[in-house]
This record gives sequence, structure tokens and C-alpha cells, in this order.
Amino acid sequence: MDRREFIYRSALTGALLSGTASGLRAEAIKKTGLAEVYKDSFKLGTAMSTKTLSGKNPSMLPLIAKEFNAITAENAMKWSAIHPGYDHWIWDLCDQFVKFGSENSMLMIGHTLVWHKQTPSSVFMNKGKLTSRKKLLKLLGNHISTVVDRYKNYVAVWDVVNEAFDEEIGWRKSSWYNVLGPDYLSQSFEIASEADPTAHLIYNDFKLENKKKQRFAIQQIRTLKKKGVRVDGIGLQCHVELNPNKPTIEQLEETIINFHKEGLQVHITELDVDVLPNAWGYRDQHINDLPERAGKLNPYKDGLPERVSTLLASRYEELFRLFIKHQDKIPRVSLWGTSDDETWRNYRPVVGRTNYPLLFDSRQQPKKAYFALHKLGTDS
Ligand code: GLA
Repeated sequence: MDRREFIYRSALTGALLSGTASGLRAEAIKKTGLAEVYKDSFKLGTAMSTKTLSGKNPSMLPLIAKEFNAITAENAMKWSAIHPGYDHWIWDLCDQFVKFGSENSMLMIGHTLVWHKQTPSSVFMNKGKLTSRKKLLKLLGNHISTVVDRYKNYVAVWDVVNEAFDEEIGWRKSSWYNVLGPDYLSQSFEIASEADPTAHLIYNDFKLENKKKQRFAIQQIRTLKKKGVRVDGIGLQCHVELNPNKPTIEQLEETIINFHKEGLQVHITELDVDVLPNAWGYRDQHINDLPERAGKLNPYKDGLPERVSTLLASRYEELFRLFIKHQDKIPRVSLWGTSDDETWRNYRPVVGRTNYPLLFDSRQQPKKAYFALHKLGTDS
């Protein structure tokens, strides 16, 4: 019995022993995981949480091993997690990540080398002074080459730079940009390429279907390419809403086609579907501190109504129909997590809501959306 088979069998035994209806329902789909169903179209990935990587969610490992063949670390490889101080590196969780990926023959995606968030403030400011251009370039180079070099035999795809552009103003005025200007994008790709010439290098961002942002991103990528800087792919995060207009399938399709025309492979990097009302106006507040809004902003705290669960399944289905249609351009589709209890959507933008954006519920049981995708993949 190989390892995969062993994991599958132990999970199956667990489900049967639990004796519940959902356990049996899960058992019914055990034979073929989603990744297997989509294997002729694209890799199917998920993000692994810090909880899972630190061994605190053991049942998640066999589930991921069966359902997915690509992994991204949700937070563990971000600068502040892996490199919290100048000479301070924390490798354990990422070492676990590559161990798990290797044992299960998965495509591993490194996320993310350069971002304005989840980066220690000491990178940009020291003793009340802004880091100089020279020093910041040195820090950038050291960070990228150290991380890429350590994992070069494992990680095949890197989200080199995350979210450098803004929908309205072009360059996001982040600390990276404020000190280094546009150079930080080209430098990051150059250093990553030097550190691992065979890795596939991606620029990753959200809402690239926004016309202004898309045009700007394309311009910048063209500029890099003209300078001889290698960019292999675009990452469309795809944190979409249940509302079929946000974004529409047509907008996404045009985005996929436009980036592909630039010679880029198109990765769907962080897919999830927000089923809750838009709450960005209450960003970072706790739902308990919004008592008069709680009913409206957090309507499904006791469970997802069947009607919404069906809508979620259709939204996932239309998205996957599109991805299947453009499978020649899309090497990988990654969900941003596996089960609803672990989603970032429960604490962003408002903390403490109950969201349902993924394919497995908070008990790690497959949802209607899972079955819809399973059927779609099997039939196509
Ligand atoms: C962005 C980042 C991800 C993650 C999400 C929220 O999309 O790229 O790493 O932080 O925000 O979880």
C-alpha cells in the first residue's frame, strides 16, 4: 500500500467509524479526489494554513493530499513569518510545507517574496528613519535569494511580487514604491530569476479585471520584458463574490485572454467566493462591536441556507466552466483554503463573521459546491 493509498484508507475508516450521515456522504466521494478529476485540465491547488502546517489540524492533511495536487502556504512563507528580523529566519513551517508537498508529489507555489503587507516594519524604518534606497535593495536581494535558494529544489512557482498596483492610481504607493520607485518590481524578478533560473515567476494581484488596473499591469509587464526581465505568469487572485456581477464571467474571460496574449501563463491563485454582504466600510472592526449591523452583515452565523448553498455551487460551476474552456492558458487553479472554518474571510474585512467561501464546510465535509465541481469535471 503506498502512502497516498494509506492516507485515503485511514480517512475512509475515520468517516465510516464516525457513522454519521455526513461521514457516509464523504465516503461516497472518496474514490476520486477533485485534483484527479481535473488532472487533464489543470493542477488544482489549495492554501495551507499555519494551523495545518504546525500540526494542529491533523485531519486536514489527508484531505488536502486527496483533493489537491498543488499547495501554497497561506501565511507561513510571507516575509514577517519566515524572516521576522534582520538575521532571524524561521524555517520550520515552510520546511514542513515542502516536506508535505514532496511526499505527495505536489506542485509547490512560493507565496510571496515581496509584498507591502505582512512585512516587518523594521525593513522600511529603523530608529525612526526611512531605510535608504541602497540598504532596502540589499535587504530585498538578501531576502529573495535566501528564500528561493533554500527551496529551489521544491518550489517550482513563485509569486514574486504581490499587489504592486492600485485600481485607481497605478503604482500602489507602498513603502517599497516610496523608497525604490518602479525598480522594485524589476529588481525582485531579476533576483528571483538569478536565484532559480528554472522557476516559474509570477506577478500576483487582485481585481485585475478592472480595466484601468489591467492596462497598467500589462504596461508594466511589457516594460519589464523589454528590459529583458523574465516574468512567466500572471496570478489572478480571484477573491470573487457570490454576486455574478462581481466580477462577471465575461470580465474574467477577457482578463485571462488579455494576459495570455502578453505571453503569460494565467494562474488562478487565491480563489474563494464571498457569500456575505460587502462590509469593507467596516474594515477591521469586530462584528460584536457592531450590534445594530450584525444581523445584516453576518446573516448566516447559524448555518448556510440551502438556497445560498445552491447559489454558491452555481457560482463555482460557472467559474470552473470558464477555467476549463481556457485550460490551454491556465496551468493551475488554487483555492484560498480548504474548509470554511479556516478562511481569512471570517476575519477580513470585519472580524468574527461566519463566511462560507470554500468547498468544504467547517467540519471538513464536502459542500454542494464540491459535488457540483466534481460532477462538472467528471462530465467534461
Ligand atoms: C491577499 C494575499 C494573501 C492573503 C489574502 C488574505 O490576497 O495575497 O496572501 O493574505 O490577501 O488572506
